Amino acid sequence: MAKLIYSAIASLDGYIEDEQGKFDWAAPGEEEHAFVNDLERPIGTHLYGRRMYETMVYWETVGTGADQPAVIRDFAETWRAAEKIVYSRTLQSPSSVRTRIENDFDAGAITRLKESADRDITIGGATLAGEAMAAGLVDECHLFLTPIIVGGGKRALPDNVRAQLGLLAERSFRSGVVHLHYALCV
Ligand SMILES: NC(=O)c1ccc[n+]([C@@H]2O[C@H](COP(=O)([O-])OP(=O)(O)OC[C@H]3O[C@@H](n4cnc5c(N)ncnc54)[C@H](OP(=O)(O)O)[C@@H]3O)[C@@H](O)[C@H]2O)c1
Repeated sequence: MAKLIYSAIASLDGYIEDEQGKFDWAAPGEEEHAFVNDLERPIGTHLYGRRMYETMVYWETVGTGADQPAVIRDFAETWRAAEKIVYSRTLQSPSSVRTRIENDFDAGAITRLKESADRDITIGGATLAGEAMAAGLVDECHLFLTPIIVGGGKRALPDNVRAQLGLLAERSFRSGVVHLHYALCV
C-alpha cells in the first residue's frame, strides 16, 4: 500500500506564504534542494491543489541545459516523470503532461489510489493537504522549518485537525533550515 505524504516548506511560525502571498523566503538552497530531490525521486504521483499546481508547473518548462545547476535539472526531470492529479473546480485543462484534473477530492478514490499504487504519493498545497489530513488520509509529513518568522499568512497545517505524530527523522542544514519527518499515528 502506498503512503500519502504531505511536504511543506514553512516559516518557523508555521506559514507557507506570508500575508502578501509571498514565499520567496522559502526557496531552498542547494543543500536542501538535493535532499528534497532524493525525497521526490521515489514518488509516483503528486496530488496538487490548483494553487500549488500553478506554482509547480514551472518545472514543466524550465530549462534543463548544462547552464542550469545540477539540482535544478534533477528536480525538473524527476517532476516531469511523475503523474500529477490536480484538484480544481475552475481549471479547464492542465499545462503539463501526465496530468489530469479532478473536480472533487473524493476520500474513497484516494484510498483506492493508495491501495493500488506501487509508489508513494505526495499531496500539496496546504488547503488540499488539510482536507486530506481531516479525512485521515495522510500517513507522513515532511516539514522544512525556515529560520524566519513572518507573522501571518497561510498556515502549513490545518485548523480543527488533531493528530498524534511520531518522529521518523530529523536533519538540520547549514542555512538554519530544519527538516522534521513525522508519521501520523492512527
Ligand atoms: N512555502 C513554499 O515553499 C511554497 C511553495 C509553493 C507554493 N507556495 C504557496 O502555497 C500556495 C498553495 O497552497 P494553498 O493552500 O493556497 O492552495 P492549494 O491547496 O494548492 O489549492 C487550493 C485550490 O485547490 C482546489 N481545491 C481544494 N480543495 C478542493 C476540493 N475538495 N475539490 C476540488 N478542488 C479543490 C481549489 O481550486 P479552484 O479554486 O480552482 O477550484 C482551491 O482553490 C501557493 O499558491 C503558494 O502561494 C508555498
